[in-house]
Amino acid sequence: MTIVIAIDGPSGSGKSSVSRAVARRLGLAYLDTGAMYRAATWWCRHEDVDFADEDAVARAVVAMPLEMGVDPDAPAVHVGGEDVGAAIRTTEISTAVSAVATNLAVRDELRRLQRAAIDAEKLEGFSDGRGIVAEGRDITTVVAPDADVRVLLTASEEARLARRARELHGSAGQDAVEATRDQIVRRDADDSTVSQFHVAADGVATVDSSELDFDQTVDAVLAVVAQLTAPA
Ligand code: DC
Repeated sequence: MTIVIAIDGPSGSGKSSVSRAVARRLGLAYLDTGAMYRAATWWCRHEDVDFADEDAVARAVVAMPLEMGVDPDAPAVHVGGEDVGAAIRTTEISTAVSAVATNLAVRDELRRLQRAAIDAEKLEGFSDGRGIVAEGRDITTVVAPDADVRVLLTASEEARLARRARELHGSAGQDAVEATRDQIVRRDADDSTVSQFHVAADGVATVDSSELDFDQTVDAVLAVVAQLTAPA
């Protein structure tokens, strides 16, 4: 049986690590669509494209030689044969990515690639036809609204701030949280202009991870999967 799992959520909700763990547990492929927007941003910089020129950005992204790895143990991202896994996570890219993600022609192109990656896993692909976990901001609503399982992974702003502070500064103390606040609040505001992902759309299950640790969150998502894929 093929299974497609769509997971959306805001930054700091833990959706990337949780989605990878779910894919690993179920033997599925894993697609990080945020990494595709980041790779597009890296490529535009690499090609010296003027971010203010929307047509030029769209043309560059359509021509981008992107290869997305879908192994949840090592989801590599290559552009033109270059491993950009680390380069797409810099603050520079995190700051610039919204300008690219709000370009509608870019979104059309990346969504086309995302649907192709999902379709490939239904047939064969990395998962041998078992399926895929795709995560991002608009997977449950636009990219794969007909996915077998659709989950919105949320967490309170406080919990997301504490997690990001631990990731970036190694502590969730007052100073680290304040240093992170700007980034989270601004990213949320920027990202909200491209897709609404704080409230679950019709038929999308919500998992609130505010009070859950990592393993509990993975288990909560797996419970939704089990419930929605149980034979009638
Ligand atoms: O999840 P992330 O931080 O790696 O996402 C990077 C950016 O890409 C973020 O600004 C939101 C955007 N994004 C999007 O618009 N649609 C998606 N499906 C995934 C990410």
